[in-house]
Amino acid sequence: MKLLPIITYLTIPLASAYWSSNLNYLSPSSHHPSLGISINRVAKRSNSGTSYDPAVLKFTHGVASGDPTATSVILWTRLSPITDAADNNGGSIGLEPLYWHGPKLTSTAPICAEWKVAKDSGMRNVVSRGKAYTSSDIDFTVKVEAKGLQPFTRYYYQFNICNSDVKSPLGRTKTAPEENDRVSRVRFAVYSCAFFTFGYFNAYGQSVRKDSVDYVLHLGDYIYEYGNSARGPQIGRKFKPDHEIFTLYEYRERYATYRTDEDLLLSHQNYPWISTWDDHEVADNTWRDGYSKLNNTENSFIIDDPVSFDQRKTNAVRAYFEWMPLRQVDMDDNLRIWRSTSFGKLVDLTVLDTRQYDRSITDVNYIHDYISSIANEVSRSQMGPRQEAWFFNQLSDSHKRGATWRLVGSQTMFSYTNLSSPFSDIEGGFFSDLALDTWQGYIASRNRTLHHLYSNNIGNNIFLAGDIHSNWVSDLVWLNSTNPNPDPATHPDYDPKTGKGSIGVEFVGTAVTSQGSVGWNGTLERGQKLADWSIKTNPSVQWVERYYRGYFELDFSHEVLKATYFGMKDISTRNSEEVELARFEVFNGENKVHRPVAGGKVAAGAIKPQL
Ligand SMILES: *[C@@H]1O[C@H](CO)[C@@H](O)[C@H](O)[C@H]1NC(C)=O
Ligand SMILES: *[C@@H]1O[C@H](CO)[C@@H](O)[C@H](O)[C@H]1NC(C)=O
Ligand SMILES: *[C@@H]1O[C@H](CO)[C@@H](O)[C@H](O)[C@H]1NC(C)=O
Ligand SMILES: *[C@@H]1O[C@H](CO)[C@@H](O)[C@H](O)[C@H]1NC(C)=O
Ligand SMILES: *[C@@H]1O[C@H](CO)[C@@H](O)[C@H](O)[C@H]1NC(C)=O
Repeated sequence: MKLLPIITYLTIPLASAYWSSNLNYLSPSSHHPSLGISINRVAKRSNSGTSYDPAVLKFTHGVASGDPTATSVILWTRLSPITDAADNNGGSIGLEPLYWHGPKLTSTAPICAEWKVAKDSGMRNVVSRGKAYTSSDIDFTVKVEAKGLQPFTRYYYQFNICNSDVKSPLGRTKTAPEENDRVSRVRFAVYSCAFFTFGYFNAYGQSVRKDSVDYVLHLGDYIYEYGNSARGPQIGRKFKPDHEIFTLYEYRERYATYRTDEDLLLSHQNYPWISTWDDHEVADNTWRDGYSKLNNTENSFIIDDPVSFDQRKTNAVRAYFEWMPLRQVDMDDNLRIWRSTSFGKLVDLTVLDTRQYDRSITDVNYIHDYISSIANEVSRSQMGPRQEAWFFNQLSDSHKRGATWRLVGSQTMFSYTNLSSPFSDIEGGFFSDLALDTWQGYIASRNRTLHHLYSNNIGNNIFLAGDIHSNWVSDLVWLNSTNPNPDPATHPDYDPKTGKGSIGVEFVGTAVTSQGSVGWNGTLERGQKLADWSIKTNPSVQWVERYYRGYFELDFSHEVLKATYFGMKDISTRNSEEVELARFEVFNGENKVHRPVAGGKVAAGAIKPQL
């Protein structure tokens, strides 16, 4: 018995190397280690807390991988005695929880997981392995970095409970090409806006079933913060919790609900993801200091919100980092998600945060006229000065090093867009006129971006966005007015017919399931009528489609980028029925949607009248 303290003493330091290998325990700031979960305190519970019989432990929500580099990738799983989220709402980022609510969680002993990465799906040729602990403090999530890998190589990975053969599902992943490799082909599937109770995430499963890409890019609205919708019960889907989410526990529960969708699980299991958030990972129409319900007020609390906006944002960010397979980008800035990755000399990807990080007041629905009156103010910023300076440097550096394509993942649409139409019976209701919640409400930010590209002769720019639940493909241009008229005669610097004056292409994708322009009972014909109008009223837009839910794929080579859009036939059940909507090409050096647009033929939506 007297040996016990000595054993304890020996056990903790030996174990500690494995503690820091779970990235979710770490402080978001390397200069402030105390902001992390107190590993020592968790480790002590090894000896005093309940230890779990491996029989009660489960890999509750599959596996995931993400943020690949040429030599490493992030691996994720959740190993827990409960499927439910861990409730330690006393903790904000970095603070050891002050109190505990949930059942069985008062003294969670840490749980040990082992992981392996192999070249073969039989897991025989193991090239990297490790061990990590998890506990209720981090909602039983496990997030590790597998290092020492070969570039642009497919790997398989699996977790197991330490000293047990209880295993997670087998995951598949892929590293990025080495920075200077003239790799000939890289492919991405691009997604945004998945409202769980509006439909099944069939779109996520499609790129897996076809095995058609190397990586998944997610532009945000991965979750929604709302309560249940009327549509949910009609299709057998229900949010947990069933009301709007505010606390850390609630955000965790929401991620846990999402990760029950089989097609979402399939995508995470088979592809490394590179993700960024949009507004709904926190709340509707967030900007730096608020969201829609706060209107443009100094309030941080409002009557029926149980926590302040700051605390809510902190909770949302923490749950996102716990559940998503992404790296902590900046060790002194836990809100930073904007980052870049190279895919050889072929593609330099820059992922932005045009929502949460540092953007000025947005159109929160009640103040459209006010935002409209200030949209052209020079002081307004979409990204904040720090991110913007970094972004412009990324574009210049990429150009200087001779990467063929610059791929920019924005949340919101960059191009000028007037979403409205005279058909009041068709509109889903939430998109009208100029979308001031996009770059259209931050004209100075857009001008500076375009100025940087034009004045430095940086070409081959491919911008991506989601957010507006419909499909838009545009020449990337600086329209010579804040209220452009489509008549090219008044726009000598851009010719919509030939694409002259354009400096790249923007691809905006529809939602995985979120409601679109024509509403749930809208028909293809109504979507078509709307598209026919929108193509006339938006000078740089070359194709618009406003009916389908879906996704798109990008296939890069040094000669040409091919983009293919897909629409899902029916999201009210789980199925794999899709329609190929349109195909586009962008040739190296052309800096515009190749004419004739979509080969002159699309399955739905409208293209600009061809020459
Ligand atoms: C939002 O604020 C504007 C003024 O800034 C006011 O006119 C409007 O009534 C407010 N709406 C709500 C719902 O609070
Ligand atoms: C947007 O288009 C509608 C017609 O669809 C038009 O009435 C409105 O004036 C346009 N808005 C702007 C700012 O051009
Ligand atoms: C942005 O550029 C347009 C077109 O040149 C111009 O009309 C507008 O005033 C500019 N706005 C700002 C804030 O730079
Ligand atoms: C706008 O068009 C005018 C007239 O063609 C031209 O002089 C001016 O340089 C253009 N401005 C921008 C920002 O492209
Ligand atoms: C759409 O159709 C469903 C099923 O027929 C119906 O329950 C619902 O009320 C309709 N919604 C609208 C907005 O018309």
